[in-house]
Amino acid sequence: MGVVRNLRQVSADDAGVDIAFRADVHAGLSQDQKAIPARWFYDATGSALFEDITALPEYYPTRSETDLLTRHAADIAAAIGPARAVVELGSGSSTKTPLLLDAIDPAAYVPVDISGDFLRDSAEALAERFPRLAIYPVEADFTQRVELPREICALPKLGFFPGSTIGNMVARSAIDLLRNWRAALGDGSLMLIGIDRIKDIGILETAYDDPAGVTAAFNLNLLERINRELGGDIAVENFSHRAVWDDVHARIEMHLVAACEMDFTIDGHAYHMAKGETIHSENSHKYGPRDANLLLRAGGWTPIATWDDAEPAFALILAKATEFRSAP
Ligand code: AVJ
Repeated sequence: MGVVRNLRQVSADDAGVDIAFRADVHAGLSQDQKAIPARWFYDATGSALFEDITALPEYYPTRSETDLLTRHAADIAAAIGPARAVVELGSGSSTKTPLLLDAIDPAAYVPVDISGDFLRDSAEALAERFPRLAIYPVEADFTQRVELPREICALPKLGFFPGSTIGNMVARSAIDLLRNWRAALGDGSLMLIGIDRIKDIGILETAYDDPAGVTAAFNLNLLERINRELGGDIAVENFSHRAVWDDVHARIEMHLVAACEMDFTIDGHAYHMAKGETIHSENSHKYGPRDANLLLRAGGWTPIATWDDAEPAFALILAKATEFRSAP
């Protein structure tokens, strides 16, 4: 089977620039607290930099989650069962996917990712490893409505949402996303989701501000991308990377900090930043066991099993689509 068909569900302008990227950058930079949604990190350069992050000794989430998937593969597979269509949200390089696919004998695989070239390359690599599996890559923003390939319509589904990517969303958006995917995947579906735990602040802050500066490069690439794709003239060398724990929101915040007062233009629109002013570029929310379960329930998913015995702490939670019936 291999890659059956590539589906593209993003809109680009004549220059090939994602229309939503342009709109988000202008809207975000016009706010009092400048902010750009974290999904725009992932152009080809950003996706490659994120892969480098996952290999850093300080960035534990990938190691912890891979460890859980490896050690508990048999239990996870038993709880999921065979013959499901696996829909992966934010598949990236799909490096963790084989651990799951090897264990569960799926009917189809649908990787969904916003980084099209990256998605197609990793789908091809996966097809070589699983030659009999039907793969339908979908280039799309998984926070928006995604149309699934018609071939998987009738199959029972498993949403796979690893990496604690849900942590990028504030609670309200996370719940919207979970509810949308509850509707899209349908009754009887399951969701296997990775959620990072709240832990020692030093461990958290170092994971998002590594001494080798890879996370800094990842953050700064957002500005380079604006210059490349939107014709910006931002002096990137005048910005620095900041990652701090916000205990009120239980999240790591990443910012791009202006080292001096500056002016720049994007698409001919003028922007000004004061010295020390920041562009908020990412949130990475962390959850305790009860918080995580509450979030899932609020989104229409009932947790049925948790694997969370990795170090540093990380959780893989299996949830089933909540059936709606009268209850107190
Ligand atoms: C891909 C969203 C899970 O928040 O940990 C890594 C992205 N940012 N280092 C995360 C990220 C900085 C990552 N996620």
